[in-house]
Amino acid sequence: MISKPPGIEDRFPDRIAAWSLITGAARDVFRIYNYREIMPPVMEFTEVFVRGLGRESDIVSKEMFTFEDRGGRSLTLRPEGTAGVVRAYIENGEYNRRATSKLFYVGPMFRAERPQKGRLRQFYQFGAELFGGSDPFYDFEIISMMDMISKRVGIDDYTLLVNSIGCASCRKEFVKALARYYTGMKDLLCKDCVVRLERNPLRLLDCKQDSCQPLKKDSPKITAYLDEECRSHYESVKKYLSDNKISFKEDPLLVRGLDYYTKTTFEFVTTKLGGQNAFAAGGRYDNLVEEFGGRTTPAVGFAAGIERMEILLENKKMAAHGLDVFIVHAGGEALNKAASTCGLLRQSGLSADMDPAAKGFKAQLKKADRDKAALALIIGEDELAAGSITVKDLKTGEQEKVKEDAIIDYLKAKLGRSHP
Ligand code: HAM
Repeated sequence: MISKPPGIEDRFPDRIAAWSLITGAARDVFRIYNYREIMPPVMEFTEVFVRGLGRESDIVSKEMFTFEDRGGRSLTLRPEGTAGVVRAYIENGEYNRRATSKLFYVGPMFRAERPQKGRLRQFYQFGAELFGGSDPFYDFEIISMMDMISKRVGIDDYTLLVNSIGCASCRKEFVKALARYYTGMKDLLCKDCVVRLERNPLRLLDCKQDSCQPLKKDSPKITAYLDEECRSHYESVKKYLSDNKISFKEDPLLVRGLDYYTKTTFEFVTTKLGGQNAFAAGGRYDNLVEEFGGRTTPAVGFAAGIERMEILLENKKMAAHGLDVFIVHAGGEALNKAASTCGLLRQSGLSADMDPAAKGFKAQLKKADRDKAALALIIGEDELAAGSITVKDLKTGEQEKVKEDAIIDYLKAKLGRSHP
């Protein structure tokens, strides 16, 4: 038997209820906030991610699915959505059409991480990116969209962590202080952090190794290095959140593992995901469009992991989507009647199914049960002779004989559907 690669999931219908709930809520909220959908490609030239996310980021240095195409060009399956959306925004001249562009996407991302609960190699994100808005109101808007989506699907047991990592100029002094602090304890650092110290000291704060965690506690804090502009931006974001009753916790160590961030960073975290504690995250990236060759364009965005949100919903009961009607018949003449009734029901908008190769009533009722049908319509010899159909409520077991020509109205009333 050929099996799927590790960290990649098959998604059968039993997982679609949670999927639809989450993506449906996200789409509703994006509409409410005036975001329009974009569908960027799943693969890009590798350069898009190297330049966007930073060569020293864990994603670029260890986790990308990269391969050469037949022409010898390096391609990568997107590990995240932002860099590709920025590339598409510039390449398609979107900035000429609108001063402020609000875009969202839903789709698969790929990271060659070690698979575990909530950590996959192919996973799905929905996310939003706003271009052309430097006002702190937009940072608040992005965060409040994710807050609303979470609450709409019933995820409310989480903490919103926020921080500001300032702009390039205030980060310069901070990174120097960070390098000074860590140089003093070089012997205690893990192998990766020794490299980080040399190449990109900010990434020292992303290290997940247990041995490096205690070192972070007394490290310099970025908030002490923010210039006036960055500090007041951060204060405004926090004020918007407080005024709008979105509770948050400040985390001065939250620098995020991607190089493109400036000013605001945030994460939605929970204790219910084991090792993976964030189910959504994002921040501002005011320099990325310019770094990709576009004109200076402030931007802010977020992305959420759909599988991680599904895990958070696992304990909640999802209403399974069932069939309206399953038609049970006795074969022969009854099969013809069943087929024509099935066609009529479908045309009237009711979901209906049947098994033409009937193997007795019992087997057919079992199928009705498996498809979570609300009602079974039974067509046997008696019903044929009387020009009627027996309707069985599969929840209560109650049965009723209904005249053939009144069946659609009867079923719609019984199922609580409005009449055409
Ligand atoms: P990220 O924090 O790398 O940010 O990913 C966002 C979310 O994707 C995570 O919080 C998590 O829920 C989910 N996720 C990440 N990796 C995995 C994985 N291996 N398996 C399952 N879920 C995963 C970004 O991707 C940025 N592009 C967010 C952003 C948008 N920033 C600005 N705009």
